[in-house]
Amino acid sequence: MRYEDLESILEANGNEIALIMIGGVNYYTGQYFDLKRIAALGHKYGCMVGFDCAHGAGNVELNLHDSGADFAVWCTYKYMNSGPGSLSGCFVHERHANNKQLNRFTGWWSHNKETRFNMRDEFDQLPGAEGWQLSNPPILSMAAIRASTDLFNEVGIKALVKKSRQLTGYFEFLINALNNNDIKIITPSNPNERGCQLSIQVKNANKTWHHKLTEAGVISDWREPDVIRCAPTPFYNSFEEVYRMVEKLKVVLND
Ligand SMILES: Cc1ncc(COP(=O)(O)O)c(C=O)c1O
Repeated sequence: MRYEDLESILEANGNEIALIMIGGVNYYTGQYFDLKRIAALGHKYGCMVGFDCAHGAGNVELNLHDSGADFAVWCTYKYMNSGPGSLSGCFVHERHANNKQLNRFTGWWSHNKETRFNMRDEFDQLPGAEGWQLSNPPILSMAAIRASTDLFNEVGIKALVKKSRQLTGYFEFLINALNNNDIKIITPSNPNERGCQLSIQVKNANKTWHHKLTEAGVISDWREPDVIRCAPTPFYNSFEEVYRMVEKLKVVLND
């Protein structure tokens, strides 16, 4: 996606657009957007700006507050390691923390904890993201999130991003060294514009290559019409695994 296109859409239709909501890291291409730039652009035209960070949380350093985004949401079952069906996360910029005029889908968990059980008619929302909670969170899912976030806190996102860039940079180097015209990386090559994911477009939408990779023990993902998504994650993937994966890809391509 090009920022210029977003700019021209807003120039033409900005006065009719209430909300811009896009993936902070695009699920298909792996492109990591400049959240600050998009938030500023949207705000210039009076739009609310939110990001779907399902592919960003635990993968890149989001700095949501500094981006100026109005809100963000994400699932915790990708890079946050908590398993499908687990709890989602939500960010609400502090400038909205106490705004009681915002429409919201509320539940009893959006209500002031002190008076939650008083069963009054009057609704007293909690400030910030807590004021968007609906109900009891699932405890077992939270246990997995807790274990994962403990590790994130111990290692630190900066150290993870550092390894991630090296790992993905190595992965990119090995793929480019294959010099094979049947595959093409569509993820930006600038490390500031991606996380750990590389999306590999394959010639003639040849899905058999993905099947063969899976049979060879490589966990990647196929996205229609013609892309294999691969994400070496810094927590639990090694440089050796990246090397072995590309060796397997080489075999598959020459088959
Ligand atoms: C772009 C994007 N947003 C959100 C989600 C998660 O959606 P949900 O929280 O409804 O499972 C996914 C999961 O695949 C995703 O790829």
